[in-house]
Amino acid sequence: MGTFDFFKQYAVFLVLLSKVTPCLSFTSFLFGDSLVDAGNNDYLFTLSKADSPPYGIDFKPSGGQPTGRFTNGRTISDIIGQELGATSFPPPYLAPNTQIDALTRGINYASGASGILDRTGFLFIGRIPLREQVKNFEQSRNYMVNIMGENGTREFLKKAIFSITIGSNDMLNYVQPSLPFFSNDKVSPTMFQDFMISNLTFQLKRLHELGARKFIVAGLGPIGCIPFVRALNLLPSGNCLVEMNELIQDYNKEVKMMLNGLNQEMGPQSIFVYANTYDIALKVILNYHQYGFENANEPCCGGYFPPSVCFKGANENSQSVLCDDRSKYVFWDAYHPTEAANIIMAKELLDDDGGISSPISIRQLYNYMS
Ligand SMILES: *[C@@H]1O[C@H](CO)[C@@H](O)[C@H](O)[C@H]1NC(C)=O
Ligand SMILES: *[C@@H]1O[C@H](CO)[C@@H](O)[C@H](O)[C@H]1NC(C)=O
Repeated sequence: MGTFDFFKQYAVFLVLLSKVTPCLSFTSFLFGDSLVDAGNNDYLFTLSKADSPPYGIDFKPSGGQPTGRFTNGRTISDIIGQELGATSFPPPYLAPNTQIDALTRGINYASGASGILDRTGFLFIGRIPLREQVKNFEQSRNYMVNIMGENGTREFLKKAIFSITIGSNDMLNYVQPSLPFFSNDKVSPTMFQDFMISNLTFQLKRLHELGARKFIVAGLGPIGCIPFVRALNLLPSGNCLVEMNELIQDYNKEVKMMLNGLNQEMGPQSIFVYANTYDIALKVILNYHQYGFENANEPCCGGYFPPSVCFKGANENSQSVLCDDRSKYVFWDAYHPTEAANIIMAKELLDDDGGISSPISIRQLYNYMS
Protein backbone atom coordinates (compact mmCIF):
# COMPACT_ATOMS: atom_id res chain seq x y z
CA MET A 1 0.00 0.00 0.00
CA GLY A 2 1.45 3.40 -1.01
CA THR A 3 1.85 6.31 1.31
CA PHE A 4 -0.85 8.21 -0.54
CA ASP A 5 -3.36 5.38 -0.16
CA PHE A 6 -2.56 5.22 3.46
CA PHE A 7 -3.23 8.91 3.98
CA LYS A 8 -6.41 8.74 1.93
CA GLN A 9 -7.70 5.92 4.06
CA TYR A 10 -6.60 7.66 7.19
CA ALA A 11 -8.32 10.88 6.16
CA VAL A 12 -11.57 9.00 5.59
CA PHE A 13 -11.22 7.53 9.02
CA LEU A 14 -10.56 10.93 10.60
CA VAL A 15 -13.61 12.41 8.92
CA LEU A 16 -15.63 9.49 10.16
CA LEU A 17 -14.32 9.98 13.63
CA SER A 18 -14.91 13.71 13.69
CA LYS A 19 -18.56 13.04 12.84
CA VAL A 20 -18.93 10.90 15.90
CA THR A 21 -17.27 13.44 18.18
CA PRO A 22 -17.00 16.98 16.96
CA CYS A 23 -14.78 18.39 19.70
CA LEU A 24 -12.62 15.56 20.86
CA SER A 25 -9.03 16.20 21.79
CA PHE A 26 -7.89 12.75 22.91
CA THR A 27 -8.85 9.31 24.06
CA SER A 28 -7.69 7.57 27.20
CA PHE A 29 -7.94 4.08 28.54
CA LEU A 30 -7.56 3.94 32.30
CA PHE A 31 -6.58 0.94 34.39
CA GLY A 32 -6.18 0.84 38.14
CA ASP A 33 -7.69 0.72 41.62
CA SER A 34 -9.93 2.96 43.72
CA LEU A 35 -7.67 5.96 43.13
CA VAL A 36 -9.05 6.10 39.58
CA ASP A 37 -12.19 3.89 39.59
CA ALA A 38 -15.01 5.97 38.10
CA GLY A 39 -17.83 3.60 38.99
CA ASN A 40 -17.02 0.03 37.88
CA ASN A 41 -17.45 -1.31 41.40
CA ASP A 42 -21.02 0.01 41.44
CA TYR A 43 -21.78 -2.93 39.11
CA LEU A 44 -20.11 -5.57 41.27
CA PHE A 45 -21.08 -7.39 44.42
CA THR A 46 -18.35 -5.98 46.60
CA LEU A 47 -17.57 -4.37 49.94
CA SER A 48 -15.47 -1.79 48.12
CA LYS A 49 -18.01 0.73 46.84
CA ALA A 50 -18.36 4.50 46.82
CA ASP A 51 -21.98 4.59 45.71
CA SER A 52 -23.53 6.50 48.60
CA PRO A 53 -23.28 10.09 49.82
CA PRO A 54 -21.20 11.95 50.81
CA TYR A 55 -18.92 10.41 48.13
CA GLY A 56 -19.12 12.67 45.09
CA ILE A 57 -20.45 15.62 47.09
CA ASP A 58 -18.22 18.03 45.12
CA PHE A 59 -18.46 16.29 41.76
CA LYS A 60 -20.15 18.94 39.59
CA PRO A 61 -21.20 16.82 36.59
CA SER A 62 -23.35 14.61 38.86
CA GLY A 63 -24.69 17.53 40.89
CA GLY A 64 -22.93 16.19 43.98
CA GLN A 65 -24.37 12.68 43.70
CA PRO A 66 -22.05 9.69 44.12
CA THR A 67 -20.56 8.31 40.89
CA GLY A 68 -18.52 5.46 42.31
CA ARG A 69 -15.42 7.64 42.59
CA PHE A 70 -13.69 7.14 45.94
CA THR A 71 -13.36 10.83 46.71
CA ASN A 72 -15.50 13.93 47.18
CA GLY A 73 -14.86 15.25 43.66
CA ARG A 74 -12.63 14.44 40.74
CA THR A 75 -9.80 11.92 40.66
CA ILE A 76 -6.30 12.84 39.49
CA SER A 77 -7.04 11.29 36.09
CA ASP A 78 -10.24 13.31 35.74
CA ILE A 79 -8.36 16.52 36.44
CA ILE A 80 -5.48 15.74 34.11
CA GLY A 81 -7.97 14.96 31.34
CA GLN A 82 -9.79 18.25 31.84
CA GLU A 83 -6.60 20.27 32.01
CA LEU A 84 -5.73 18.89 28.60
CA GLY A 85 -9.09 19.86 27.17
CA ALA A 86 -11.36 16.86 27.63
CA THR A 87 -14.97 17.90 28.07
CA SER A 88 -16.15 14.61 29.56
CA PHE A 89 -14.69 11.65 31.41
CA PRO A 90 -14.14 8.11 30.10
CA PRO A 91 -17.10 6.09 31.42
CA PRO A 92 -16.69 2.92 33.49
CA TYR A 93 -16.42 -0.21 31.36
CA LEU A 94 -19.23 -1.96 33.24
CA ALA A 95 -21.75 0.85 32.77
CA PRO A 96 -24.42 0.10 30.13
CA ASN A 97 -23.87 1.16 26.51
CA THR A 98 -20.29 2.31 26.81
CA GLN A 99 -18.83 0.36 23.88
CA ILE A 100 -19.09 3.30 21.49
CA ASP A 101 -17.07 5.42 23.93
CA ALA A 102 -14.06 3.29 23.11
CA LEU A 103 -13.97 5.15 19.78
CA THR A 104 -14.15 8.59 21.31
CA ARG A 105 -13.30 9.61 24.84
CA GLY A 106 -12.05 6.18 25.97
CA ILE A 107 -13.01 3.79 28.74
CA ASN A 108 -12.20 3.43 32.42
CA TYR A 109 -11.49 -0.18 33.49
CA ALA A 110 -10.32 0.60 37.05
CA SER A 111 -11.77 -1.17 40.06
CA GLY A 112 -11.59 -0.40 43.78
CA ALA A 113 -9.79 -2.97 45.99
CA SER A 114 -8.08 -4.50 42.95
CA GLY A 115 -4.39 -5.10 42.55
CA ILE A 116 -1.72 -6.23 40.15
CA LEU A 117 -2.00 -9.70 41.64
CA ASP A 118 -5.25 -11.61 41.22
CA ARG A 119 -5.60 -12.47 44.87
CA THR A 120 -5.25 -8.92 46.16
CA GLY A 121 -8.43 -7.55 47.73
CA PHE A 122 -10.15 -10.92 48.11
CA LEU A 123 -11.57 -9.83 51.48
CA PHE A 124 -13.65 -7.28 49.61
CA ILE A 125 -15.12 -10.06 47.42
CA GLY A 126 -15.87 -8.31 44.09
CA ARG A 127 -13.09 -6.42 42.25
CA ILE A 128 -11.45 -6.57 38.83
CA PRO A 129 -7.72 -7.42 38.98
CA LEU A 130 -5.38 -5.84 36.43
CA ARG A 131 -5.27 -9.02 34.34
CA GLU A 132 -9.05 -8.92 33.88
CA GLN A 133 -9.01 -5.18 33.24
CA VAL A 134 -6.69 -5.83 30.31
CA LYS A 135 -9.00 -8.62 29.13
CA ASN A 136 -11.89 -6.17 29.23
CA PHE A 137 -9.86 -3.79 27.09
CA GLU A 138 -9.47 -6.65 24.59
CA GLN A 139 -13.26 -6.78 24.38
CA SER A 140 -13.38 -3.05 23.66
CA ARG A 141 -10.67 -3.52 21.08
CA ASN A 142 -12.67 -6.25 19.30
CA TYR A 143 -15.49 -3.77 19.04
CA MET A 144 -13.11 -1.16 17.56
CA VAL A 145 -11.83 -3.65 15.01
CA ASN A 146 -15.42 -4.39 13.92
CA ILE A 147 -15.95 -0.70 13.25
CA MET A 148 -12.56 0.52 12.03
CA GLY A 149 -10.74 -2.63 10.95
CA GLU A 150 -7.46 -3.87 12.34
CA ASN A 151 -5.34 -1.17 10.71
CA GLY A 152 -7.70 1.62 11.64
CA THR A 153 -7.70 0.41 15.21
CA ARG A 154 -3.91 0.29 15.32
CA GLU A 155 -3.67 3.87 14.03
CA PHE A 156 -6.27 5.00 16.51
CA LEU A 157 -4.63 3.33 19.51
CA LYS A 158 -1.23 4.84 18.68
CA LYS A 159 -2.57 8.21 19.77
CA ALA A 160 -4.53 7.11 22.80
CA ILE A 161 -3.18 7.42 26.33
CA PHE A 162 -2.99 4.27 28.44
CA SER A 163 -2.81 5.12 32.10
CA ILE A 164 -2.12 2.52 34.81
CA THR A 165 -2.52 3.37 38.52
CA ILE A 166 -2.35 0.18 40.54
CA GLY A 167 -0.36 -1.64 43.22
CA SER A 168 -1.38 0.13 46.45
CA ASN A 169 -3.73 -2.67 47.45
CA ASP A 170 -1.10 -5.33 46.78
CA MET A 171 1.22 -3.49 49.17
CA LEU A 172 -1.50 -2.90 51.78
CA ASN A 173 -2.47 -6.58 51.71
CA TYR A 174 1.13 -7.64 51.99
CA VAL A 175 1.92 -5.43 54.97
CA GLN A 176 -1.39 -5.84 56.83
CA PRO A 177 -0.61 -7.72 60.02
CA SER A 178 -4.29 -8.59 60.50
CA LEU A 179 -4.60 -11.20 57.77
CA PRO A 180 -3.73 -14.62 59.12
CA PHE A 181 -4.24 -16.28 55.70
CA PHE A 182 -1.39 -14.31 54.29
CA SER A 183 1.13 -14.79 57.04
CA ASN A 184 1.37 -18.57 56.54
CA ASP A 185 2.62 -18.42 53.01
CA LYS A 186 4.07 -14.93 53.17
CA VAL A 187 6.98 -14.56 50.77
CA SER A 188 9.92 -12.21 51.34
CA PRO A 189 9.46 -8.53 50.48
CA THR A 190 11.86 -8.89 47.56
CA MET A 191 10.00 -11.82 46.14
CA PHE A 192 6.67 -10.08 46.58
CA GLN A 193 8.05 -7.05 44.77
CA ASP A 194 9.28 -9.31 41.97
CA PHE A 195 5.81 -10.83 41.61
CA MET A 196 4.28 -7.38 41.36
CA ILE A 197 6.84 -6.10 38.84
CA SER A 198 6.77 -9.21 36.65
CA ASN A 199 2.97 -9.30 36.53
CA LEU A 200 2.81 -5.55 35.81
CA THR A 201 5.42 -5.88 33.07
CA PHE A 202 3.50 -8.76 31.55
CA GLN A 203 0.30 -6.70 31.32
CA LEU A 204 2.12 -3.65 29.92
CA LYS A 205 3.61 -5.83 27.19
CA ARG A 206 0.19 -7.31 26.50
CA LEU A 207 -1.26 -3.81 26.07
CA HIS A 208 1.64 -2.98 23.79
CA GLU A 209 0.89 -6.05 21.65
CA LEU A 210 -2.70 -4.87 21.42
CA GLY A 211 -1.49 -1.54 20.04
CA ALA A 212 -0.95 0.74 23.04
CA ARG A 213 1.96 3.16 22.52
CA LYS A 214 1.61 6.03 25.00
CA PHE A 215 1.72 4.88 28.60
CA ILE A 216 1.55 6.61 31.96
CA VAL A 217 2.46 4.30 34.80
CA ALA A 218 1.96 5.80 38.25
CA GLY A 219 4.30 4.78 41.04
CA LEU A 220 2.80 4.11 44.47
CA GLY A 221 2.12 6.96 46.85
CA PRO A 222 3.38 7.08 50.47
CA ILE A 223 0.78 4.62 51.75
CA GLY A 224 2.56 4.58 55.12
CA CYS A 225 1.05 8.06 55.62
CA ILE A 226 -2.62 7.36 54.86
CA PRO A 227 -4.94 7.73 57.88
CA PHE A 228 -5.89 4.02 57.78
CA VAL A 229 -2.29 2.87 58.18
CA ARG A 230 -1.44 5.59 60.71
CA ALA A 231 -4.43 4.69 62.89
CA LEU A 232 -3.95 0.94 62.60
CA ASN A 233 -0.36 1.29 63.75
CA LEU A 234 -1.24 3.84 66.45
CA LEU A 235 1.25 6.34 65.09
CA PRO A 236 1.46 9.76 66.75
CA SER A 237 -0.02 12.62 64.75
CA GLY A 238 2.02 13.45 61.66
CA ASN A 239 4.07 10.24 61.63
CA CYS A 240 4.16 7.75 58.78
CA LEU A 241 4.87 4.02 58.84
CA VAL A 242 8.51 4.05 57.82
CA GLU A 243 8.82 0.34 56.92
CA MET A 244 5.90 0.65 54.56
CA ASN A 245 7.22 3.75 52.83
CA GLU A 246 10.66 2.16 52.44
CA LEU A 247 9.10 -0.88 50.81
CA ILE A 248 7.20 1.40 48.45
CA GLN A 249 10.26 3.45 47.53
CA ASP A 250 12.12 0.24 46.67
CA TYR A 251 9.21 -0.93 44.56
CA ASN A 252 8.92 2.44 42.80
CA LYS A 253 12.62 2.33 41.92
CA GLU A 254 12.11 -1.07 40.33
CA VAL A 255 9.09 0.16 38.37
CA LYS A 256 11.03 3.11 37.05
CA MET A 257 13.89 0.86 35.98
CA MET A 258 11.49 -1.56 34.33
CA LEU A 259 9.90 1.31 32.39
CA ASN A 260 13.32 2.57 31.28
CA GLY A 261 13.95 -0.94 30.04
CA LEU A 262 10.70 -0.99 28.08
CA ASN A 263 11.51 2.41 26.55
CA GLN A 264 14.75 0.95 25.21
CA GLU A 265 13.28 -2.37 24.18
CA MET A 266 10.20 -1.04 22.38
CA GLY A 267 11.92 1.77 20.47
CA PRO A 268 10.81 5.34 19.76
CA GLN A 269 7.33 4.34 18.55
CA SER A 270 6.36 3.76 22.17
CA ILE A 271 6.78 5.77 25.30
CA PHE A 272 6.37 4.73 28.90
CA VAL A 273 6.16 7.66 31.32
CA TYR A 274 6.74 7.06 35.00
CA ALA A 275 4.62 9.31 37.23
CA ASN A 276 6.31 9.92 40.55
CA THR A 277 3.24 10.30 42.71
CA TYR A 278 5.25 9.37 45.79
CA ASP A 279 7.35 12.54 45.93
CA ILE A 280 4.53 14.90 45.13
CA ALA A 281 2.08 13.31 47.60
CA LEU A 282 4.68 13.29 50.37
CA LYS A 283 5.54 16.93 49.64
CA VAL A 284 1.87 17.86 50.05
CA ILE A 285 1.48 15.83 53.25
CA LEU A 286 4.63 17.22 54.89
CA ASN A 287 4.15 20.83 53.78
CA TYR A 288 0.38 20.92 53.89
CA HIS A 289 0.23 24.44 55.33
CA GLN A 290 2.14 25.75 52.35
CA TYR A 291 -0.49 24.29 50.05
CA GLY A 292 -3.36 25.84 51.98
CA PHE A 293 -4.44 22.77 53.94
CA GLU A 294 -5.16 22.68 57.66
CA ASN A 295 -5.19 18.93 58.19
CA ALA A 296 -3.01 16.24 56.64
CA ASN A 297 -3.49 13.66 59.36
CA GLU A 298 -7.17 12.83 59.70
CA PRO A 299 -9.67 12.09 56.98
CA CYS A 300 -12.41 14.63 56.28
CA CYS A 301 -15.00 11.87 56.30
CA GLY A 302 -15.34 8.83 58.53
CA GLY A 303 -13.29 9.75 61.56
CA TYR A 304 -9.78 8.72 62.39
CA PHE A 305 -10.15 5.37 64.12
CA PRO A 306 -10.88 2.17 62.21
CA PRO A 307 -13.06 1.05 60.66
CA SER A 308 -13.28 4.74 59.57
CA VAL A 309 -16.25 4.20 57.31
CA CYS A 310 -17.44 7.22 55.36
CA PHE A 311 -21.19 7.13 54.78
CA LYS A 312 -24.38 9.12 55.10
CA GLY A 313 -26.92 7.38 57.26
CA ALA A 314 -30.71 7.53 57.21
CA ASN A 315 -30.66 10.38 59.73
CA GLU A 316 -28.28 12.88 61.27
CA ASN A 317 -27.30 10.51 64.09
CA SER A 318 -26.22 7.65 61.89
CA GLN A 319 -24.20 9.89 59.60
CA SER A 320 -20.45 9.51 59.80
CA VAL A 321 -18.32 12.47 60.76
CA LEU A 322 -17.82 14.97 57.97
CA CYS A 323 -15.38 17.87 58.25
CA ASP A 324 -16.57 21.46 57.86
CA ASP A 325 -14.27 22.53 55.06
CA ARG A 326 -13.35 19.82 52.57
CA SER A 327 -10.85 22.07 50.84
CA LYS A 328 -8.71 22.16 53.99
CA TYR A 329 -8.13 18.40 54.23
CA VAL A 330 -5.55 16.36 52.34
CA PHE A 331 -7.45 13.12 52.95
CA TRP A 332 -11.08 12.55 52.08
CA ASP A 333 -11.50 9.16 53.75
CA ALA A 334 -9.06 6.83 55.48
CA TYR A 335 -7.48 5.81 52.14
CA HIS A 336 -8.06 8.46 49.50
CA PRO A 337 -7.08 12.11 48.94
CA THR A 338 -9.63 14.93 48.64
CA GLU A 339 -10.25 16.61 45.32
CA ALA A 340 -8.29 19.60 46.65
CA ALA A 341 -5.20 17.40 47.06
CA ASN A 342 -5.85 15.70 43.71
CA ILE A 343 -5.86 19.09 41.95
CA ILE A 344 -2.42 19.96 43.30
CA MET A 345 -0.96 16.57 42.46
CA ALA A 346 -2.48 16.50 38.97
CA LYS A 347 -1.02 19.92 38.12
CA GLU A 348 2.45 18.91 39.27
CA LEU A 349 2.28 15.70 37.26
CA LEU A 350 1.17 17.59 34.17
CA ASP A 351 3.76 20.31 33.99
CA ASP A 352 6.57 19.79 36.43
CA ASP A 353 9.87 19.51 34.62
CA GLY A 354 11.85 18.63 37.70
CA GLY A 355 11.52 14.90 37.23
CA ILE A 356 8.09 14.29 38.76
CA SER A 357 7.18 12.55 35.50
CA SER A 358 9.96 11.02 33.46
CA PRO A 359 11.34 10.88 30.82
CA ILE A 360 8.80 13.58 29.81
CA SER A 361 5.90 15.37 31.47
CA ILE A 362 2.36 14.15 30.96
CA ARG A 363 1.47 17.20 28.88
CA GLN A 364 4.40 16.40 26.61
CA LEU A 365 3.18 12.82 26.37
CA TYR A 366 -0.19 13.97 25.07
CA ASN A 367 1.50 16.02 22.37
CA TYR A 368 4.02 13.31 21.54
CA MET A 369 3.82 12.06 17.92
CA SER A 370 0.34 13.49 17.43
C1 LIG B 1 -3.14 -3.31 6.90
O1 LIG B 1 -1.77 -3.01 7.03
C2 LIG B 1 -0.95 -4.03 6.49
C3 LIG B 1 0.51 -3.71 6.86
O2 LIG B 1 0.70 -2.33 7.05
C4 LIG B 1 -1.18 -4.13 4.98
O3 LIG B 1 -0.36 -5.13 4.44
C5 LIG B 1 -2.65 -4.47 4.75
O4 LIG B 1 -2.93 -4.47 3.37
C6 LIG B 1 -3.55 -3.47 5.46
N1 LIG B 1 -4.93 -3.93 5.38
C7 LIG B 1 -5.92 -3.18 4.96
C8 LIG B 1 -7.29 -3.79 4.97
O5 LIG B 1 -5.75 -2.04 4.59
C1 LIG C 1 2.54 -13.17 38.91
O1 LIG C 1 2.59 -13.34 40.32
C2 LIG C 1 2.42 -14.67 40.78
C3 LIG C 1 2.34 -14.65 42.28
O2 LIG C 1 1.14 -14.02 42.68
C4 LIG C 1 3.58 -15.51 40.29
O3 LIG C 1 3.44 -16.83 40.72
C5 LIG C 1 3.62 -15.44 38.76
O4 LIG C 1 4.75 -16.08 38.32
C6 LIG C 1 3.61 -14.00 38.25
N1 LIG C 1 3.36 -14.02 36.80
C7 LIG C 1 4.11 -13.37 35.93
C8 LIG C 1 3.66 -13.41 34.52
O5 LIG C 1 5.12 -12.80 36.22
